[in-house]
Amino acid sequence: MHPGGAVLEGTAAVLGGKIRARTARVGIIGLGYVGLPLAVEFAKAGFDVVGVDLNESKTRKVREGESYIPDVPTAELSSLVEKGKLTATSDFSVIRDLDTINICVPTPLRKTKDPDMSYIVSASREIAQHFHPGMLVILESTTYPGTTDEVVLPLLTTEGLQVGRDFFLCFSPERVDPGNPRFQTRNIPKVVGGVTPACTEMGRLFYSQALETVVPVSSTQVAEMVKLLENTFRMINIGLVNELAVMCDRMGINVWEVIDAAATKPFGFMPFYPGPGLGGHCIPVDPFYLSWKSKQAGIEARFIELAGYINGQMPHFVVDKVQNVLNDAGKPVKGSHIHVMGVAYKRDIDDMRESPALDVMLLLERRGARLSYSDPYVPSIRVDGLNVEAAPETAAAEADCVVIITDHKAFDYAGLVERAKLIVDSRNALKGCASDKIVRL
Ligand SMILES: NC(=O)c1ccc[n+]([C@@H]2O[C@H](COP(=O)([O-])OP(=O)(O)OC[C@H]3O[C@@H](n4cnc5c(N)ncnc54)[C@H](O)[C@@H]3O)[C@@H](O)[C@H]2O)c1
Repeated sequence: MHPGGAVLEGTAAVLGGKIRARTARVGIIGLGYVGLPLAVEFAKAGFDVVGVDLNESKTRKVREGESYIPDVPTAELSSLVEKGKLTATSDFSVIRDLDTINICVPTPLRKTKDPDMSYIVSASREIAQHFHPGMLVILESTTYPGTTDEVVLPLLTTEGLQVGRDFFLCFSPERVDPGNPRFQTRNIPKVVGGVTPACTEMGRLFYSQALETVVPVSSTQVAEMVKLLENTFRMINIGLVNELAVMCDRMGINVWEVIDAAATKPFGFMPFYPGPGLGGHCIPVDPFYLSWKSKQAGIEARFIELAGYINGQMPHFVVDKVQNVLNDAGKPVKGSHIHVMGVAYKRDIDDMRESPALDVMLLLERRGARLSYSDPYVPSIRVDGLNVEAAPETAAAEADCVVIITDHKAFDYAGLVERAKLIVDSRNALKGCASDKIVRL
């Protein structure tokens, strides 16, 4: 037993024994950026793991030992598949033979900015169809506080089965940071909260087999709120620093120098950086799960709404900068050729979800600009319904203006400064480089 945790008896003791012996059969539902690295960690820890995904091309690739997630090396995946420790399927009936299930399906927002629970509901219904006593189910998808108890638990509860005695249900927020070479699934501390103390203890026991640090909390709601606090904290601080960037621009102050100098304070300050707008599946989305839920509790999440508004203005701010730079050079944006460097939502990854590059390009296109882009990770994108293929970095030489949206390490920045006519740098990628061609955010 973990200090302060529950004693595992009966069904719990049996499942606990299988987890300790690593003979428990582990299932991961949703094999994306979160699910695939998690499946690999448990397979590496010696468990037999099966991934379940509706997307048959992903399950086929896993079975063939080919990774489609940059943080999961193909060599590592294929060796686990060859050893028979990891497989994947789109057939949910495998759940019948599983002891544990982690749900890692998407949780997007609807157009109205309300939570879209449909993926969690559909995965939970699939589990319910093949559910059996003695299972541990852990929801990992980011969601509003109350989801595990109010949405998942009723779907899994069948007559005669009691949570915490006959089966176990937890929430554990996923904190993976794609592209981060230092912190990955294994060494990012894992928070877990169960519906009952026995559920929490089962979740703690499970994760501690494969991950370095587990942090049990007293309930599923606390665990759900932890994730929303973390991402709301980032979103609001980015909003603050974006507003500061707009102020500094008006006052002729270099915001990047201000942040770097402030970051020398050894306590009480943490640097956040401005940019062309929020991107990715988490920071622009998750805080709205919290504001939606808090509205139901009668509280307006005013910080979230304000930061959402400021961050949403950043693509317009960048486009205005491009327009001003071109005007100063005697060229109207209409008809000008603008080359975008980097379109993924952040550095050194291939993920385009919610990328601000798409907003910037759409706005520029609507002002009549001709567009091209380079991104070593993204071979083609769709802007305003049209396919655009990536161009080589040298295409920057032909453009009237280059705008850096994503500061991939692989770009040849020295070459860019040499060949470009004008550069709007929204990421301070050209830090330390003095040239009249460069206009910083
Ligand atoms: N990507 C990140 O960096 C990150 C970080 C922390 C938390 N999260 C959260 O983790 C969750 C998953 O995110 P992701 O980035 O891995 O998403 P993803 O889109 O990369 O992967 C989700 C997978 O789930 C599959 N899927 C959808 N519905 C399904 C169903 N009913 N049954 C089986 N498979 C289904 C999809 O085909 C897809 O392969 C989200 O809630 C997200 O907010 C993501």
